[in-house]
Amino acid sequence: MKVVKCNNNNVMLLLKEVENVDDKVIKSNSVDAAFEKHVPVVEKKDTKVTVVVNHVMEEDHYIEWIMVDYGDMQIIKHFKPGDEPKMEVDYREGMKAYSYCNKHGLWVNELK
Ligand SMILES: [Fe+2]
Repeated sequence: MKVVKCNNNNVMLLLKEVENVDDKVIKSNSVDAAFEKHVPVVEKKDTKVTVVVNHVMEEDHYIEWIMVDYGDMQIIKHFKPGDEPKMEVDYREGMKAYSYCNKHGLWVNELK
C-alpha cells in the first residue's frame, strides 16, 4: 500500500502496486516538523490498541485521518477540526499506525 499525492494535491491510497508513481509517493516521517506532534502514539492494552495523535485540531491545521494497516486490511478514521484524533482497534503483531496532517503530511509508527 502506498500513499500518493496527485497533481491536484489530492491524496490517494494505492491498494495495489502501480507503475510510474514513485515520484508521487509520500514518504512518512520525512517532513521537517515535530515528531511528537505527528507520529501516532500507540498504547496496547490486552488485545486492544489505542492510537492517538497529540496534534492541534484547528481549522487550518489538523489531522485529516488515522489509518491502521494490518497488511491484509486497513482501517481509516477521518477527522475534522475540533475532533480528537484518536481511534481504538484490535492489536495484531506488525501492525502500523499512520496519521496524515493537512500541513505536514504522512507519519507512521510501527508496533513490534
Ligand atoms: Fe501538523
